[in-house]
Amino acid sequence: MTHPIQNARVLLLGGFGRVGIEAAQYLLKTTDARLTLASRTGKTIPSEIDPQYHDRISTLTLDATQPAALEEACQQTDLLISCIGPSGIVGDSVARACKKTMTPLVDAGGYDPVIQSLDQAEKDDPTRVPLVINVGLLPGLSGLFPEHILRTIGAGTDIRQLDIHYVGRDAWTYNSAWDIINSLGGFGHDRGFCYLDNGRIVSVPMGKAGAKPAFPHPIGKTSTMLIYAEEIVRLANQHNIPVARVFGANIGPRATMICILARLMRFYNSDKGLDRGARWLARASEKDMRKMEPAYGIQVDLHDATGLAATAQLMLTDTYQATGTVIGITARCILQGQHNGTGVFMLHEAIPHDLFMSLFEQEDLIRFIDIRTLNDQHTAEASV
Ligand SMILES: NC(=O)c1ccc[n+]([C@@H]2O[C@H](COP(=O)([O-])OP(=O)(O)OC[C@H]3O[C@@H](n4cnc5c(N)ncnc54)[C@H](OP(=O)(O)O)[C@@H]3O)[C@@H](O)[C@H]2O)c1
Repeated sequence: MTHPIQNARVLLLGGFGRVGIEAAQYLLKTTDARLTLASRTGKTIPSEIDPQYHDRISTLTLDATQPAALEEACQQTDLLISCIGPSGIVGDSVARACKKTMTPLVDAGGYDPVIQSLDQAEKDDPTRVPLVINVGLLPGLSGLFPEHILRTIGAGTDIRQLDIHYVGRDAWTYNSAWDIINSLGGFGHDRGFCYLDNGRIVSVPMGKAGAKPAFPHPIGKTSTMLIYAEEIVRLANQHNIPVARVFGANIGPRATMICILARLMRFYNSDKGLDRGARWLARASEKDMRKMEPAYGIQVDLHDATGLAATAQLMLTDTYQATGTVIGITARCILQGQHNGTGVFMLHEAIPHDLFMSLFEQEDLIRFIDIRTLNDQHTAEASV
């Protein structure tokens, strides 16, 4: 824990985007921070933001791919939040500018290549501020909720296997869709269907990669497939859990078809394919949402030596507002000095899980949460 920053100056790159606006709204509501919303073209304060907060907002024209302008902006800020994309194109340029100028960072994207690139430099050149990469729902809450389960009902149990399912649907923006297509190819490491087994990443054939978790309405029973998640490999290693399997699915029907097609045709292997996949996925998911509501669910199963020991489900009412809120809570905790120190982190490593979950539960975003041990005794429950 460090000292809180009063009247902090927060710079929001992508502050006019879907995620950026939600993060801004959370910070305006819960902190006294002054926000600068940046975009590549001059813009006025978005209409979604309540006029009572306008005196705490300024706007800035900034292209984050211009290093000198970015570093100059960093020097005038106490915390930078990056909600720009596609992350695969932005790469580690924002994180490196923050490291150089010692500006704490909360990054909505980043994904595995950025965290790996930052980690490699840590030994020779340690980071002296918190750089929190991958802050959102997936990755982000996708690691923090399992961390919370492991440290609460999992505490004191010898967990031998961790199984996690993520399912979600919404009308994805082009930038989000681009990163989703890129993730299907493992961000450049196409590992196929795989899981962690005693320090090794083991591949399995498609026929053995599926699962069928059942969530409450409106998700219901759904199909998921094994995916590689660096976040959960780190989490499992941190808890000495030998086996970790992560399953995921984009559950809008048209979006599912585009993801299957993108995977079969390996759209993620070229700029043209990524662009085409992102356009198709954005359009298909928008059509899905004409008759469906957004949804996001996580299921966490903890196994001990005798079998399933505990299980937990979390379902949210929304994805973009929830992503922005996760980013906002992370930024708030850093501004208030309630974080796990300096260095390169994923969300579950950066913010104490119990503090994060109590702040998250105060927002009206959780549709259903159920955490139970094998003997069916509820240890926590809240449903809407
Ligand atoms: N971890 C998660 O769960 C999660 C969930 C959702 C999204 N994300 C990530 O968050 C990022 C944003 O997604 P989104 O859906 O909010 O996208 P979006 O609505 O398109 O917003 C992105 C914003 O970034 C700005 N931008 C793009 N390039 C820029 C640059 N070089 N310099 C300055 N601003 C730039 C754009 O503004 P201008 O065009 O006005 O410059 C745009 O408003 C994506 O990388 C996405 O993958 C993560």
